[in-house]
Amino acid sequence: MMQLGGLLMMASMAMACTSPERGMTVMAHRGASGLAPESSLFAYQEALKLPVDYLEGDVQRTKDGILVLFHDGHLGSDTDVELVYPDRIEEPIETFTWEELAKLSSGKWFNRKHKDLAQTRFDQARILPLEELLKTLDPQKGPGLYLETKRASAHPGVEQQTVALLRKYGWLPLSPNATQPRVLIQSFEKDSLERLRVLEPSLPRVLLVAPMEVASLGADGVLSYAKALNAYGVGVHSISCTPWNLGAWQNAGLKVHAYTLNNPWQFFVMKRLGVDGIFTDRPDRLVDYLERKSP
Ligand code: G3P
Ligand code: CA
Repeated sequence: MMQLGGLLMMASMAMACTSPERGMTVMAHRGASGLAPESSLFAYQEALKLPVDYLEGDVQRTKDGILVLFHDGHLGSDTDVELVYPDRIEEPIETFTWEELAKLSSGKWFNRKHKDLAQTRFDQARILPLEELLKTLDPQKGPGLYLETKRASAHPGVEQQTVALLRKYGWLPLSPNATQPRVLIQSFEKDSLERLRVLEPSLPRVLLVAPMEVASLGADGVLSYAKALNAYGVGVHSISCTPWNLGAWQNAGLKVHAYTLNNPWQFFVMKRLGVDGIFTDRPDRLVDYLERKSP
């Protein structure tokens, strides 16, 4: 209860200094992952039915070099690896070839966990190669891409591979006169963002910072890293979205994107605080809250 009280107090304090006309960017977190198995094609297809601004996804790599969209380092929570490879449950994703991963269901767990949203077809969900998602999207219209180099240190060269795929499918180079970037890239790993800054300076970079790191660095500490990376913005947990932090970061020209919020009262607080964007598993709720019209 304290969290809600604290956030509402901060929101009321911030109301005076928030420009209400600031738009709110909607990121479908791992697709519409509150409606379908996260990071699966089903989740991205659900998000494509909604007026979202970006499809968010975590880029990792298989043993044989295929970029896939998957959040965890291990397969135990979001696949049936315990059935298919019972002696490999503890092995990280980069120790599996794409052919091995293709034998796993990445949707059965969703049907077990969300009885009210379960669909038989979700059992057929597979870990999604980034290239397969790119084949279903139009780089010129519809939602943009908001990719994260996840566990980048475990996937040397993932930055080059990701940029190469974005180029192959027309997402790069970015058009100079776009009102909003068609593709953003984010990471908790600063050296991954630095590699991207050198590799593809035009690709806007978002520095992800966990709550404990925000607390230890302080607003100015985060800001100095963001400036060193010539970052487009910062991605932070909603609890780090204090008026002081937002003031420091937005006053320096950074966008602030908050993760991961799924309920209207949270959207209310973030809008009052003046956050620039929200990562949400329930983009259906957020676009309704924002009174957006379907595409
Ligand atoms: O990319 C924003 C958010 O996804 C960062 O946290 O753990 O959900 O990848 P995580
Ligand atoms: Ca992510």
